Amino acid sequence: MPSVHICEVGPRDGLQNAKHLMPTAAKKAWIQALAAAGLREIEVGSFVPPKLIPAMADTAEVVAFARAIPGLKVIALAPNLKGFQRAIEAGAHKVTFPVSASRQHSESNVRMTPDQMVEEVRRCAQWPHPGVEIEGAVSTAFGCTMQGVVPEDDVVRIAAALAEFCDAVALADTVGYANPAQVRRVFRRVRERIGNKLEGAHFHDTRGLGIANALAAYEEGVRSFDSSMGGLGGCPFAPGASGNVITEDLVFMFESMGLSTGIDFPKLLAARDLLVKGLPLEPIYGHTPQAGLPKGFRASA
Ligand code: COA
Ligand code: ZN
Repeated sequence: MPSVHICEVGPRDGLQNAKHLMPTAAKKAWIQALAAAGLREIEVGSFVPPKLIPAMADTAEVVAFARAIPGLKVIALAPNLKGFQRAIEAGAHKVTFPVSASRQHSESNVRMTPDQMVEEVRRCAQWPHPGVEIEGAVSTAFGCTMQGVVPEDDVVRIAAALAEFCDAVALADTVGYANPAQVRRVFRRVRERIGNKLEGAHFHDTRGLGIANALAAYEEGVRSFDSSMGGLGGCPFAPGASGNVITEDLVFMFESMGLSTGIDFPKLLAARDLLVKGLPLEPIYGHTPQAGLPKGFRASA
């Protein structure tokens, strides 16, 4: 059993913000290679209006493909009941809902206030969804490029509301405002309120603190992390948002600390080659892939 779980969100968070479209066949090949590298959870797309985000128009086909990969948990994002119904029909194992703690980001992203969005997720939770997990992700939980400061009390209140009817709650630093001290404080406060319903951490690396924030969350007991291969990512409805924490560097950090991720580094690099092939014009980041593994490096067992 891995000590930490890494969920690859590149096919969703990454591709929704990329300047170019990755063809469906290339998405499938990339997802297959990610799973072959040992990733057991992949957020493969989102069920939003295709007009809004054309890169996500093929999500149903991609979910159906990914479902056939043995042992893979297939995750999709949905912003409302219609998206949730499409996700269930396509066969997603888990659906994530973005519930922004910032009113301005929420209105820009889903055209609902945070409270209206909480009610939308409640409506989804009440809709029959046998075997499908629901995660409420509190976005802009550490600050917002439109609103600025996001009060911690708002984050705790929304997380507590979501915990009433979601299987899991995650905290997301959508625009890369968080610092490690804040991460420790906010995760601790939310944990005190909702206990083990608090599962995931989703960080962006906009100011270079993504990996430090992931470590801070780990030290607060978090064991599930979202990250994006090559550091792709960002919300098109949050000005200034840029890439997620880089999967390759996150895997290196945990493995070199002796914490197993279940991910094979050479195979991860093979998946990265497919990402580059599928999106040849997109800048792709990553310290460890550029520098190579240290001499004598041994992955944790
Ligand atoms: N999937 C596909 N189509 C959808 C949809 C969904 N999840 N939700 C709504 N639609 C369709 C409606 O059927 C309607 O179609 P019509 O014009 O042919 O009748 C149209 O989209 C408008 O529907 P409405 O309910 O008025 O939505 P809206 O325009 O107020 O937009 C959201 C609300 C939530 C659908 C939209 O803001 C959204 O998708 N936000 C998510 C953005 C995102 O992906 N952000 C990044 C990830 S966090
Ligand atoms: Zn994100």
